[in-house]
Amino acid sequence: MKLSDKQVKQFETEGWLFLPEAFSPDEVAALRHDAEGIYAADRPEIWREKNGAPRTAFAAHTYNEGFAILGRHPRLIEPVEQLFGEKLYMHQYKINAKAKFDGDVWQWHQDYGTWLRDDGMPEPRAMNIAVFLDEVFTYNGPLMLIPKSQHHGNLPAGHDLGTTSYPLWTLDNGTVEKLCADGGIAVPVGKPGGVLMFHGNLVHGSSANITPYSRKIVYLTLNCISNHIRKPTRAEWIAHQDFTPIEACADDALLQYAHRHRQQAAE
Ligand code: SIN
Ligand code: MN
Repeated sequence: MKLSDKQVKQFETEGWLFLPEAFSPDEVAALRHDAEGIYAADRPEIWREKNGAPRTAFAAHTYNEGFAILGRHPRLIEPVEQLFGEKLYMHQYKINAKAKFDGDVWQWHQDYGTWLRDDGMPEPRAMNIAVFLDEVFTYNGPLMLIPKSQHHGNLPAGHDLGTTSYPLWTLDNGTVEKLCADGGIAVPVGKPGGVLMFHGNLVHGSSANITPYSRKIVYLTLNCISNHIRKPTRAEWIAHQDFTPIEACADDALLQYAHRHRQQAAE
């Protein structure tokens, strides 16, 4: 899948791009089902909120066939290769739950802040590309983005170890206020299958989900091969150290997986 010149321009100016319904309901239904099974498992890669609800499941592409296919899908790999002009490897892979009633906040932050400080990533030449597994509404803890904030580079941040169960390099209120005065806040919402990509220095966060609607989103963090991490401090399943270039799979591979999934469920 190739981005148009207009889309590339929007990414460069605003720092994000949303592709509604890039995957069909059939393609994502099997993944949504698999994600629930993954959250129910007892594995170190599954992190929980302080209240016990699932928060994020790391590295599901290493042990689940559907998520492995998604991690090599051309509709995700090709646009990021196009923007960076280089082959990519998987730096991080996570399925964020934002569970109904219990999903907690993600404070305002830049992803590259963590990749730089915790993983020793040389440049912000990595990108989060997200796939909505559930419908994302304005009220179930959607991702909030501050457009154009990526132009400020890597901003000073504090290491917040207490607000949630997840340590994060977060920005102070004054910085967020200034950035919002310029860029405002964008909230991409839409059906399962929507794809959102955003620059590593784009400031973003999300509030708690007190609604009865779960908001599962898969995030692939695709890093340029030449920009591989130099000083890893986190577990291998959080910040991967396999820098093998990703070869995209066939465009219909996820649909084939969904069909096999449905057949097995009917047997
Ligand atoms: C993140 O910023 O890494 C996750 C935010 C979210 O899933 O709401
Ligand atoms: Mn983030």
